[in-house]
Amino acid sequence: MNKNFKAIILAAGKGERMNSHLPKVMQPICARPMLWFVLDALRAVKIKDIIAVVGFGADLVKGILDRDIKVVLQKKLLGTADAVRTGAGKLKGFKGNVLVLNGDAPLISPETIKGLIKAHLQSSAACTFLTANVDNPGGYGRVVRDNYSRVIRIGEDLDLAIPQRQINEINAGAYCFKSAELFKALGKIKPNNKKKEFYLTDIIEILSGEGLKIETFATEDKSEVLGINTREDLSLANDVMRSRILNQHLASGVTIVNPQMTFIYPDVIIGQDTVIYPFCVIESGCYIGKKCTIGPFCHLRPATRVEDEVTLGNFVEVSRSQIGKGTLVKHFSFLGDAQIGKKVNIGAGVVTANFDGKNKNATKIEDEAFIGSDTILVAPIKVGKKAITGAGCVVTKGKNVPDGKVVLGVPARIIIKSKK
Ligand code: UD1
Ligand code: MG
Repeated sequence: MNKNFKAIILAAGKGERMNSHLPKVMQPICARPMLWFVLDALRAVKIKDIIAVVGFGADLVKGILDRDIKVVLQKKLLGTADAVRTGAGKLKGFKGNVLVLNGDAPLISPETIKGLIKAHLQSSAACTFLTANVDNPGGYGRVVRDNYSRVIRIGEDLDLAIPQRQINEINAGAYCFKSAELFKALGKIKPNNKKKEFYLTDIIEILSGEGLKIETFATEDKSEVLGINTREDLSLANDVMRSRILNQHLASGVTIVNPQMTFIYPDVIIGQDTVIYPFCVIESGCYIGKKCTIGPFCHLRPATRVEDEVTLGNFVEVSRSQIGKGTLVKHFSFLGDAQIGKKVNIGAGVVTANFDGKNKNATKIEDEAFIGSDTILVAPIKVGKKAITGAGCVVTKGKNVPDGKVVLGVPARIIIKSKK
């Protein structure tokens, strides 16, 4: 459906109101740059030709973009119309439709983009843009209509007369254009009197003044149109995204005891009937199997794989590790770069000392091993099947514990054969 569509993402702005050294589109939402969410939504609607307009912190922004995205530099930040003009430079000869998205509106869903595209194709308008009726329209461009409800223009907040400030219908910053009309009208936009910037939104008045059709597509979900201009907006967007992610897990059969106090980032898989207790942080790239118990106060960092029926209890941090089926890690522990087998018991306070100051080293613990409370395993190290480490022992680097053996002390030494 979308071969006839190419997209321009506006990502050049500094984001003055963020008061940050970081380009605005790189500010994180659920630990990912906000721009990635816009790109994900575009990919989900199968728009492949994407042009990103970068400016402030261009190299940083380029660094987070996939190679298939065309990047163009807006040399001076002269406003959204200038940004689109810069992006359109890559579209010479293109006769289809152009989707323009603000890079600072990361909550837009693929369904809404699809709806916008569909409305645009059906109405055959010169421009169709996304709107929403919001309770607090302050800061957004408002949709100004005539007596017949036809869109005349978008009025920017600073330029609105007082009666028009009451308009609740806002411009969400997502537009479909017929390319020919877009290219022609862009050249007619003049700098705004107050900010001396070229406003993309002025294009609506230009097109409607020429008698061309303007359509709108309204989204019911107001959270989707949130434009991120301040840290307060960023924190709101975090909340929305966090609950969207949690709701997906709830729907797929995960129990989350207190969603307000649970932080699960995107791209996490959790199996049915797993229970997540409060104050857990589960980062992107983690996999948790079925019937596990996680938390309270667990931090699972990327590349962690937890098989079915595992318990990770209070104050457990796991990073780049695999934990086998039925293993218990019930109280305060750090497991890093560890490969842990099935039905292992990790006692309270066990630590894998995985970093020697230069390198991260691996720990392997085989099935049914019993790691006593407060054991320190200095990696690289291997603990064999059904082996036991005594409470408080320090198993030093390379002093592997053979299958079924018991070690004790500091440094740990083999003492007796365990009963098999
Ligand atoms: C813009 C719209 C407003 C709409 C709102 C929705 C304009 C003039 N106003 O306002 O009608 O309600 O978004 O969130 O478009 N950018 C560039 N180059 C520039 C300036 C901006 O690439 O020279 C990018 C920014 O990085 C941002 C996007 O364009 O991703 C929007 O710019 P921003 O300054 O945030 O516009 P708003 O004031 O939010
Ligand atoms: Mg904005």
